[in-house]
Amino acid sequence: MTLDIIKNIENSEILLTNCIFEEVEKNETILKIENLNVYAKKEHILKNINLEIPKNKITVLLGPSGCGKTTLLKSLNRLTDLYKELKVSGHIFIENDDILASKQNTSVLRQKMGLLSQRPYPLPYSIYKNVAYGIKLKGIKNKKLIEFNVEKKLREVGLWEEVKDRLHSSPESLSIGQQQRLCLARGLAVKPRIILADEPTSALDPVSSKIIENLFKELKKHYTIILVTHVLRQAQRLADHVVFMNYGEVIEQGSSKEIFSNPQTSQLKEYLIEGN
Ligand SMILES: Nc1ncnc2c1ncn2[C@@H]1O[C@H](COP(=O)(O)OP(=O)(O)O)[C@@H](O)[C@H]1O
Ligand SMILES: [Mg+2]
Repeated sequence: MTLDIIKNIENSEILLTNCIFEEVEKNETILKIENLNVYAKKEHILKNINLEIPKNKITVLLGPSGCGKTTLLKSLNRLTDLYKELKVSGHIFIENDDILASKQNTSVLRQKMGLLSQRPYPLPYSIYKNVAYGIKLKGIKNKKLIEFNVEKKLREVGLWEEVKDRLHSSPESLSIGQQQRLCLARGLAVKPRIILADEPTSALDPVSSKIIENLFKELKKHYTIILVTHVLRQAQRLADHVVFMNYGEVIEQGSSKEIFSNPQTSQLKEYLIEGN
């Protein structure tokens, strides 16, 4: 459990790049995956994955349980390094930098790729300090500036009004949905380029899930989102681009319309009918 928390915190200590709201070119690729393979001992978990992830869009990873979606997300911020039994090969380029190159600084990388897990993992500090933590990671020390940014990030996730009178309480006083938004605020505070979200609403009630969904639609203006979800209707509501995986392989990918209205393979057709 403790290890899980550390791993998730490490990933949530997301990112950081200067907040550049540059003009987004149409269909620009932010991340390119080439011949990615992941093995655990004899098991071939990811099989020669080749993908291009469009910038400022929501890419949804779909597929039955155990097909490798989480492992793919973990490869993107090198969380796979923490599992000695995993062997990873291939290339993952973000802005010409190969994430998998051994010289890659994993803490800088994890600042570029924030991970939102299935369950929220707030730090054992106050609500305020949880967000301030992400801001301080950016090297900001000025108290007023930290205060300003804490409010800004809490507003960005729609939490400010709900917590402004109890900023110094423990996050445990918040609902799970609010805690999830708090973790998102902490991640956004370090200004990621990409948000990796692994079934981020699976522990949430329908109202909280809807809030997160609406947030993602807003956030994609400034961030690229890669979302794993097993909720087909959520995928249909949110996806710009869909990647369907099965047994560690990418079976089909395309626009939301192509995948949901005109699936090509029998595997995808079956999945769309039966779910996982
Ligand atoms: N560290 C690991 N060691 C051994 N097998 C693993 C490890 N991580 C994942 N796997 C295996 O890889 C497969 C894909 O897992 P995962 O990526 O979690 O799938 P998904 O997220 O699509 O449910 C599963 O068979 C799982 O048991
Ligand atoms: Mg998973």
